[in-house]
Amino acid sequence: MNEESRILSSQAKTEKKPEKDYSKYFEHVYQPPSLKDAKKRGKEAVNYHSDFTIEEKYQSLGKGRKYYIRTYGCQMNEHDTEVMAGIFEALDYTATNDVNDADVILLNTCAIRENAENKVFGEIGNLKHLKLEKPDVLIGVCGCMSQEESVVNKILKSYQNVDMIFGTHNIHRLPAILEEAYMAKAMVVEVWSKEGDVIENLPKSRLGETKAWVNIMYGCDKFCTYCIVPFTRGKERSRMPEEIISEVRDLARRGYKEITLLGQNVNAYGKDLDISYGLGDLMADIQKIDIPRVRFMTSHPWDFDNRLIEVLAEGGNIVPHIHLPVQSGNNEVLKIMGRKYTRESYLELVEKIRAQMPDVALTTDIIVGYPNETEEQFLDTMDLYEKVGFEHAYTYIYSPREGTPAAKMKDNVPMREKKDRLQRLNKLVEKYSEETLQNYLGQEVIVLCEGPSKKDEEVLAGYTDKNKLINFRAPKEAIGQLVKVKVTETMRYSMNGELIAILDQVGVTH
Ligand code: 5AD
Ligand code: SF4
Repeated sequence: MNEESRILSSQAKTEKKPEKDYSKYFEHVYQPPSLKDAKKRGKEAVNYHSDFTIEEKYQSLGKGRKYYIRTYGCQMNEHDTEVMAGIFEALDYTATNDVNDADVILLNTCAIRENAENKVFGEIGNLKHLKLEKPDVLIGVCGCMSQEESVVNKILKSYQNVDMIFGTHNIHRLPAILEEAYMAKAMVVEVWSKEGDVIENLPKSRLGETKAWVNIMYGCDKFCTYCIVPFTRGKERSRMPEEIISEVRDLARRGYKEITLLGQNVNAYGKDLDISYGLGDLMADIQKIDIPRVRFMTSHPWDFDNRLIEVLAEGGNIVPHIHLPVQSGNNEVLKIMGRKYTRESYLELVEKIRAQMPDVALTTDIIVGYPNETEEQFLDTMDLYEKVGFEHAYTYIYSPREGTPAAKMKDNVPMREKKDRLQRLNKLVEKYSEETLQNYLGQEVIVLCEGPSKKDEEVLAGYTDKNKLINFRAPKEAIGQLVKVKVTETMRYSMNGELIAILDQVGVTH
């Protein structure tokens, strides 16, 4: 572990609100999370641990107590929540869905854009009344925001109702952090600014019984100039192939129908290992496992190699859907973003993928209103969208993140212009999504039925292999199964259909 960058501190809550230098208020060591440390990429080897255990002294910490975790942001956070839930349960806590009923409340936060952070601060504010009513409730902030100096300082200054802050590299330390919070009755801050080791066999309490997340790597070394992730999640660390394969085998044995391999930049998988084994090799090994659907995200176009395309093209249980964030269709903007590819090389990659996978569904992420982005540069993005014909996209207005190079750039694009560009882009996204779905009308699709639809409890919903949402009426036995559905109506972002059959898993690939 990186003891140097470890922060363990307690702040007596009875003390007056600190002004600037918080250190004098702390009984223990006080080192704020450091963006400078988080930016460093040392050569030190990553250590792998498979000996995680819950120490006996913590094993009944949660007896008679309930935990509640609210998750913000990406799939990585959702999966971290499953790990924290697993740890809570190993400590004898029980889960509750009612925040008012909880003895420990964790906010697992996202730092990717400012509005994500604002939501969390709003929620911490809302919890103030709960803390007044129930002073013994522990409130914790974890996830990406806790890795940011400015966030930790803001919480220390203005949110005295928070009892603990811990970082993305400190999740396995949850038992000790909880105990510290109970014992000290003081704010506990434990944020390691540099990534820790890879900890295997952490307990997990998975949210579903049909679909599961599987981490294949942690961190990101790409340092796109707008992105906070390399600071909040540390350097790229791949899990060992055998650990991943045995986790997937175990999920298959337990009847899971779909797994999603997760990483901030999955295409860099294996590059930090001493063996010559990349994402293509891993996918080829996972193809052999008897699990109906395998997804992966998120890809970076830079590391998307031929071996991977070859394996994906073989299909099998790997779904024909690639999420390939392009961010911009203009070369100058791509260069300033530090994306390391051009519009032309991106289009070439798309062509290469389509040559081997003619049926592939491509989706993307796009940022509009980058500092100084001109109308012409934005129109290049619109043009690229049409050239590729993406089936869907997640679109965002650029949000400055403190500590990233882009946040220091002067920005002459007015917000109303950024909003206008987003609106125009979204219209295009909508048009392509609608047209894509129209092609399904009258067709039969295979759907992994997840449960009741959002709008109507009586109607079930699920996704096709290409991630298209479809609603249909079916008996409850269909939940968790692959089913065949005929598409009867298509909308902008979803479809309606009629159940044809509930399929037996055997022999069905997607
Ligand atoms: N502002 C806006 N969007 C961002 N993303 C990442 N950082 C920012 C930022 N600072 C978007 C990118 C990425 C997705 C997960 O979030 O499009 O692919
Ligand atoms: Fe952020 Fe993705 Fe770029 Fe990494 S590759 S810095 S996670 S946008």
